[in-house]
Amino acid sequence: MANPDRGVLIAGNWKMNHTLGETERFFSELKAKAPQALPAGTAEAFRSGRLRGCLIPPQLALERSLRLARELPFPLEIASQNAHWEKQGAFTGEVSGPMLQELGIRWALVGHSERRQLFGETDETARKRSESLLTQGFVVLFCVGETRAERESGQTHAVLSRQLSGALPERGKGAASFLDGRLVIAYEPVWAIGTGLTATPEQAQEAHQALRGMLDERFGPEAAAKTQLLYGGSVAPSNIDSLLACPDVDGALVGGASLKPESFLALLAAGARRCP
Ligand code: PGA
Repeated sequence: MANPDRGVLIAGNWKMNHTLGETERFFSELKAKAPQALPAGTAEAFRSGRLRGCLIPPQLALERSLRLARELPFPLEIASQNAHWEKQGAFTGEVSGPMLQELGIRWALVGHSERRQLFGETDETARKRSESLLTQGFVVLFCVGETRAERESGQTHAVLSRQLSGALPERGKGAASFLDGRLVIAYEPVWAIGTGLTATPEQAQEAHQALRGMLDERFGPEAAAKTQLLYGGSVAPSNIDSLLACPDVDGALVGGASLKPESFLALLAAGARRCP
């Protein structure tokens, strides 16, 4: 059963996939197939907040997704894949918190490993984004995760600890009340993203437990107990149940398997089964 303090969050990261036409088709199939695909009790799990769903489309599809999500028979948050820490200015190619808020977007992904590896995101820029967005009232999905080389050389915990220090403003033990559950950490081992290699439930649980311990050390037990920790990296309908069965895994951040309505619904259904 899901931890009652935290519930389950299933988030789909579309990355740079789906045109507006494909987005329209995705939502119309999602709407049509949801009643059959989601188990009894799902509506109640959503209504009580124990289950939450989120989709993270490319920027150009945010507004359309938001509109189409309102027509679904269940609530679905729409999140931005990125946002700048400044509210405006000479930052070509970026979008700001106020721009997203004007659309009605209240959630954002920060520090995804593809941003870190391909687009020069550093711990410092991820920290600035996270701090600014949290201060502006956003829910932040903050990504951490080690590379294969870092895991093999025994540095996993050191890397997670370093990356995690960028997720939260340094507000010490009072952070929990400031955050009010708005910080979500996604543990995504880089070697498992898009590779078909998934961390075993034991590896995921071990990393999540370590992350919760780090949250406790830095920000106190209340923040540690409240913060949802998602696992990401080749999550699919075939492996999500065993990952969600881990006591410190509170959901999943899913790339490839979120692109098709059937598999996204299967992931939501797995989340619903964890929230009886
Ligand atoms: P994947 O991507 O599920 O395709 O491995 C996960 C992610 O990058 O968030």
